[in-house]
Amino acid sequence: MFSVTLAFRQRTLDIEATTNSAESILFIINFKNYEEISDGNSLRLAKAASKVAKKHKMKIVVCPPQHLVSEVAKLPVTVFSQHVDTSKVGSTTGFIVPELLKKSRVRGSLINHSEHRITGQDIEQLVLRLKGLKMTSVICVKNVSEAKKYAKLNPDYIAIEPPELIGSGKAVSKERPEIITNSVKAVKDAKNSTRLLCGAGIVTGDDVAKALDLGADGILVASGIVKAKNWEKTIDEFALAFTKSRKI
Ligand code: G3P
Repeated sequence: MFSVTLAFRQRTLDIEATTNSAESILFIINFKNYEEISDGNSLRLAKAASKVAKKHKMKIVVCPPQHLVSEVAKLPVTVFSQHVDTSKVGSTTGFIVPELLKKSRVRGSLINHSEHRITGQDIEQLVLRLKGLKMTSVICVKNVSEAKKYAKLNPDYIAIEPPELIGSGKAVSKERPEIITNSVKAVKDAKNSTRLLCGAGIVTGDDVAKALDLGADGILVASGIVKAKNWEKTIDEFALAFTKSRKI
């Protein structure tokens, strides 16, 4: 039993080691609360992502629904939370507390997703708290001025997602390329280590390639993968766009 657990840990560490070199390049799959990933399906989708990540020696992060994060985090895959609260550890009922997520091998979190917006004060507090816990922070923003404002907090990532394109199947990299190039500039102007991801409407490898060409360091995707017929094939198609872009 002990040797199995050790092998598992080693496998997770190996994945970490191989992907650390391309640490800043990120491919995040947000499972949201889609019916398709209910119950055991979240494990199936996470396993597909882990397999493709190993094949392309890149980091693919999965964000399962809250009640499944610790179960999925037992797999050799990097797990982020879809949301975290500012509530303290202790007698705080019904909130998602980063310190406890970390103990369940959750490595980071989306903050202020378009479908779960929070206050600027909470965003600031959570970036500092995740930094203190060595957990990855991804602040989601809806426009360039928010990207500019929140890049100053030096989160690990800013993720630009125009709300009108989310779930549309019309890719941000094709419908609104200027929002990516302007957000890349806004983040660069912060002169810190923050990187830019983009998301909304990404459904093909070509959408991914276009986003990387425009200067994004990675992508945040949901329906384009969760609603795909063949999860592994689609994740592989997206990962291939990264390898072809020589970003990893
Ligand atoms: O968090 C990612 C998400 O909001 C993008 O959604 O379905 O357009 O890939 P989707």
